Order: sequence, then structure tokens, then C-alpha cells
Amino acid sequence: MSNKSFLPTWLYNDKQIFNFELEKYSKNFWHPLIFVGEIKAGEILEKKFLKQSLFISCSQNNSINVFKNRCPHRGSELLLLKTKDNPSKSIFCPYHGWTFDGFGELKTLPLKDDFEIKVELGDYFLEKVNSLVNGPFIWINFSNQPISIDDQIDLVVGNCNDEWNINYGIFSEFSNTLNCNWKIAHDNTLDDYHVAVAHKNTLHKEQGPIKNYKYFFSKFCNVLVTPMNSRENLYTFGLLPWTHIIVWPGRGILLISYPPQRIDQCSLEIKLASATLCTKDLEDWKINILNFLREDKVIVESVQKSYRGKFKLGPPNRLEQRIIHWQEVYKEFLQAYGISF
Ligand code: FES
Ligand SMILES: [Fe+2]
Repeated sequence: MSNKSFLPTWLYNDKQIFNFELEKYSKNFWHPLIFVGEIKAGEILEKKFLKQSLFISCSQNNSINVFKNRCPHRGSELLLLKTKDNPSKSIFCPYHGWTFDGFGELKTLPLKDDFEIKVELGDYFLEKVNSLVNGPFIWINFSNQPISIDDQIDLVVGNCNDEWNINYGIFSEFSNTLNCNWKIAHDNTLDDYHVAVAHKNTLHKEQGPIKNYKYFFSKFCNVLVTPMNSRENLYTFGLLPWTHIIVWPGRGILLISYPPQRIDQCSLEIKLASATLCTKDLEDWKINILNFLREDKVIVESVQKSYRGKFKLGPPNRLEQRIIHWQEVYKEFLQAYGISF
């Protein structure tokens, strides 16, 4: 054990820190947006990320593009034009009628010859967001110099290469609001000390005895490995900036993330997918997951009340070392942007 301590509580209450997290810290990383299998060739979907609306399109030859939902003419929000025979094939501006295709190209320009300057269809595009496909997810990023995805998720690919490259076919999702700073929720999901107590009848039964817990760490990623039976392990990965991936071999994959909403509020977003379960079993699995997340909601919202005031935290336990790991990386980012304490 090192003599590291937890982050001080003021970092959970400070407006400048909150802005740093949204504008700097989180932009270094790739964010899993949807499962690849959720979109079909020729389709365009709308998804929200941190309150902003995005379009994800998949071309006929399966190339993926992600765009901001903002019209390049005067900034209006755009709509997906859907008809029964033409599901989600074009993007329409309800303000002056410009229309875009799944490559973000302008296809319809009303009163084209009446602009102050000469305007052609090829002059205007939807603004692209960096995106890539890795494993089962479409990932996005908002920086010119993101961390490489290979560095960000090295332990996931290294430990679960087979499960990572499965074609997942059934999906489910859920979201809720947690009345706490996102870091309290993230810390809690990296906290393996509380599982045997707070989740005695739920998650603890899946993860098994503490004596079997094994840990691995890389620069940006950590994992708790717990044996499920004599051959297979359950992998609980902690990823930056606020993301968790749990791989249940033979069952499926669970993504949990805590995007911030306000300084004292975040979303709980879960997505799960399976290649083997039927829809009913996937929904039953989701109900089990929601049970332990409900237990966590009570805990994190009670911790938030304490973090609001001046409060010095106790020492970390060995089973809280994944919290210390991500907090050390977070501190490095704070320092790199000139914030020290
Ligand atoms: S703002 Fe979209 S067409 Fe004018
Ligand atoms: Fe928990």
C-alpha cells in the first residue's frame, strides 16, 4: 500500500474545477456513444451526449460518421426526416429548409440563387465530431489531440479480446439522475470495499469472495478480476473519464457512465448488450443491475451531503485502490492545466 490519500472534498464543489472537467479533462478521452450493432447500414440516429444533440450515420458500406446537430446556415437544430419507406435517411433544417445526407453534405438549398454571395451545395457541411469504432462501441472525442484509444482501453482489449470483438445483437439502456457530483458516483463504482456490505445480496453475489479479488492497472485503466467459476472471470474495468465496463463472459457487456449535468448532479447511464441471451433474459439481467445501482444511488446522494461542507476524509482501504488509481491520473491532468493544491 502507498500512503496516498483521497482527493480533497473541495474539488467536488468548485465551479472552476467543474468547468475544467467539462472543457479540458473529459476532452482528452474517447467516449463510447452507442453499440455498433445499434445502427444499421443506411441509417441515421440522433443521440444526446452531455446535453448536446449528435447525429450518427452509417453508410451503405458501414462507414460511421458523427455530426453536431447544428445547421451551418443560422445554427438551428436539425430534424431527422423519417417516413415509413425512408427511415432516418436525411437531416432537415426546420428553419429555412436546408437538407443534409448521412455524409453531412448539403443536398437541398431553397432559393439558391438569392443569396448575397454565390452559394453552391458543396460549400456547406454538417460539422463532424471525431469518431471511431473499437470493439463493440462507436466512440467520440472533442479534441484535436485525444489520448489514443489503444492507451485508454488497453486492459479491456488485453484481458477480454474475444468478448470485445463479439457482434452483440440485443441491446438495452437506462438513464437516471443522481443528485451528486459525478466524481462521487465514479469513485463509488471503483470502490470494491463497499460491495460486500452495501450490495450483500446483489453485486456481491456476482463478484464472489473478497479473497479472490485480483487487480491490474495501466496508465489510464484499471480492472478488478473476480473468478465466476473454474474457467471464467468477471472483469470490472474502470475507465477515464467517468466510465465503467463490466464484461460477463457468456452473458454480455455492461457500460456504466456518469456524465456530469451540474456541479452537484450527474446522469447515471447504462447500456447493456448480449450476443447470447434472449430479450427476456437481457431484461432480467438489467433488473438485477438496476437493483445494485439503486443501492448505490442512496449511498452517493448521502455522501454528496457531507462533501458540501468542509470534511476531511479517512484513509483508503486496499479495496479502494482503484479509486486512488483514477484520482492520481485526474490529479496529473489538474496539474498539467496549472491547478494544484
Ligand atoms: S438555419 Fe438551417 S436552413 Fe437556416
Ligand atoms: Fe456500489
